Amino acid sequence: SWTTGNVIEEQVAAIRELVGDKRAICALSGGVDSAVAAALVQKAIGSQLTCVYVDHGLMRKGETQQVEKDFVAATGVQLIVVDAEERFLAALAGVSDPEQKRKIIGREFIRVFEQAQADIIADEGPAVEFLVQGTLYPDVVESGGGTGTANIKSHHNVGGLPEDLEFKLIEPLRKLFKDEVRMVGQELGLPEEIVQRQPFPGPGLGIRIVGEVTKERLDLLRDADAIAREELTAAGLDRDIWQCPVVLLADVRSVGVQGDGRTYGHPIVLRPVSSEDAMTADWSRLPYDVLAKISTRITNEVSDVNRVVLDVTSKPPGTIEWE
Ligand code: XMP
Repeated sequence: SWTTGNVIEEQVAAIRELVGDKRAICALSGGVDSAVAAALVQKAIGSQLTCVYVDHGLMRKGETQQVEKDFVAATGVQLIVVDAEERFLAALAGVSDPEQKRKIIGREFIRVFEQAQADIIADEGPAVEFLVQGTLYPDVVESGGGTGTANIKSHHNVGGLPEDLEFKLIEPLRKLFKDEVRMVGQELGLPEEIVQRQPFPGPGLGIRIVGEVTKERLDLLRDADAIAREELTAAGLDRDIWQCPVVLLADVRSVGVQGDGRTYGHPIVLRPVSSEDAMTADWSRLPYDVLAKISTRITNEVSDVNRVVLDVTSKPPGTIEWE
């Protein structure tokens, strides 16, 4: 019968046999899937696994530290953190178009990760033959992968590395659904904040600033987002909502009044949604007192924000993210 213990034992044995004395690498995103996949592989092969975390400077408050400190403490994983904030900000300078932002962030991410890969491969250790990915069962079905039992397939790496270099994929979560992955993560001793994390887009806060992405705007949005998350958690609402993007309308200003002065600041949008699979969603009917608390705190504590608005659009027609 299915137990998380069985899954872990089975995968650990299979991964050990597969990897032998070679090495594997894994990109950590801060999300549940890559974290659980990495923890499983770490349990199997220890220091033969190296994880790479690209800090693009677009994460929310505390998320990078969560990976750097809590995840490493819980797993003992060997981790390389690449601080690429300046590089990403430079590449994003002057860009407001959402698709353009997504392309730039994706491109820079691949470049930085491949450089880290090349550095690992160039060191003295055994050959790096494997790439760990947190692919789940729904991803496999979606991409037409069927029900094959093999959890390895070949993958050609693009750019930055010798053309003929080929990684074999290790996808230890290929037969699991999201809730099962969380259970496995819990059993492996991962921190609750990582195991129960709500979805967060790869391009991060870069696509939650409507307008150009700058360090100042990111810091402001990080503060507003941290307040919203804190209050939602305090109200016990984390399990009731799918996620709650917090968006900065950086190109919009409106008039306000605070203390004895007129202000001319930016609005923050709260986008709490309920969903089963993110394909469709409805806006969450959050209690008014929670919304009031979030609004009061954000306008009091985050300078240059003088208005908080609630997005009451379902998906469709709205997407969950604003960009
Ligand atoms: P939308 O905005 O399309 O979002 O309704 C649906 C779900 O996907 C997440 N999302 C992303 N996740 N990389 C990701 O890993 C992305 O580029 C990306 N864009 C959107 C979004 O947060 C929501 O859960």
